[in-house]
Amino acid sequence: MNTIFFKLGGSIMALFMIVLLPLGFVLNQIFTNFNYAHIQEETEERASQYAVLLAGIDESNIALLVKSMASETVQEVVILDENGNVVGNSGINEFALGERLPAQGTRGSFTDTVNGQDYFYSRKPVPSDSVNAGEIYIFSPSDLMGNSAVQVRNALILSGVGALLLAFGFTFIVSKKLSDPLQAMEKAARRMARGDLEVELPVTTRDELGSLSNSMNELAQELKRYRSSRQEFFSNVSHEFRTPLSYLQGYSHALKTGRYQNKVEKQQFISIIHEEAQRMNRLVHDLFELSRMEEESFPLELELVQVENAAQSAAAKVEAEATKKGIALRLEIEEGSQLIVADGFRIEQIFTNLLKNAVSYTEKGHILVKVCTEGERVKATVSDTGIGIVPEELPYIFERFYRVEKSRARDLGGTGLGLAIVKQLTELQYGTIHVESRFGKGTTFTLSFPEAREGDE
Ligand SMILES: Nc1ncnc2c1ncn2[C@@H]1O[C@H](COP(=O)(O)OP(=O)(O)O)[C@@H](O)[C@H]1O
Ligand SMILES: [Mg+2]
Repeated sequence: MNTIFFKLGGSIMALFMIVLLPLGFVLNQIFTNFNYAHIQEETEERASQYAVLLAGIDESNIALLVKSMASETVQEVVILDENGNVVGNSGINEFALGERLPAQGTRGSFTDTVNGQDYFYSRKPVPSDSVNAGEIYIFSPSDLMGNSAVQVRNALILSGVGALLLAFGFTFIVSKKLSDPLQAMEKAARRMARGDLEVELPVTTRDELGSLSNSMNELAQELKRYRSSRQEFFSNVSHEFRTPLSYLQGYSHALKTGRYQNKVEKQQFISIIHEEAQRMNRLVHDLFELSRMEEESFPLELELVQVENAAQSAAAKVEAEATKKGIALRLEIEEGSQLIVADGFRIEQIFTNLLKNAVSYTEKGHILVKVCTEGERVKATVSDTGIGIVPEELPYIFERFYRVEKSRARDLGGTGLGLAIVKQLTELQYGTIHVESRFGKGTTFTLSFPEAREGDE
């Protein structure tokens, strides 16, 4: 059952009724009173007219008068002589003074018990010096209504019905306008709960309902993105593990079944197994770190960090490897302090990852690390004269598992997670990272962190 629709519709209708019913009642009351007063006035007038008329006519014409009254009007007439005897009656049953009609009084109401008709009556004396001296009674049915009164009443009824219909229509439209989108959203929410994210609610209004529909659409989109990125992530992870695992399986099987030519080859196999196990270890380590970083509560030990120091310790770690490849590693540190609020160990990790890449992807030339202050920010660049990255690949290198040349990167021991970790760590410490590269010429990574202000500790 569409309850909101009925609840809302019911409330609005009830409200309308609360206003319309008393209004109708009051109007009806006013109208009835007005009509009744009108009948009274008319009856009295007619009684006076007839009294005058009666005073002037012949006794023999009384029957004629009564007859015309009976046939031509809805009113009735009763004529009494001086002694109170009825000499003419156009149609009042059981007319008897003193019983249900008071002997005295000039007006009042009277009920004809035979046919149940209610009357208003008026009583007038006929002057005693005239031929037909006595009294005359005119009876008008109380439910009598004049032509204009009927028109007024019909207009009232019509406008009442009109108002009611209008209220119905209005209620229906308003309730429907409110309940339809709510129902649609409820259905959409159920579908989403069941995992069906192909939800596209129409946004037709700019009110709260419209923005709620909009939010639900966005939620569905967001969940869809999340679901697909999670699927991609899992397929990437399993893919990354498949290669080292197949190596492990293959070479350990060869060793187990003795399928090697000599001792040298056996040693080779063992080294491969060792390397692949190490690679898997790195992969697990990096994955674990990355997943922790993506959580809200990644612990950072914030302190005042001299960026220069972090760059220097990172450089020391890759120096040997650089020298081995014949690449010069230089540091250019600007005069003055480059203090930022960060986790020193993590800043060093950022430099280490960038420098390891620089060494890996550079064949000849040099690697340069620069640290300087620019405005209120501390900037650091790591540039190399290496193989560079083509512009088409550049936007993706910070993504997890993304490697420009899969096989080369693998041979160099990369997991494809280094830059993803760098980006996470940079952003966790309120920094930005930016890359520029020219294919075949070299690559420059630029880091920027807000400088520590006085009082930061
Ligand atoms: N200094 C660089 N010069 C050229 N290419 C780079 C450089 N740094 C990173 N890349 C490219 O970006 C990819 C992603 O880097 P990274 O996330 O560190 O993964 P990897 O484990 O392969 O080093 C690398 O595989 C490489 O293709
Ligand atoms: Mg790397």
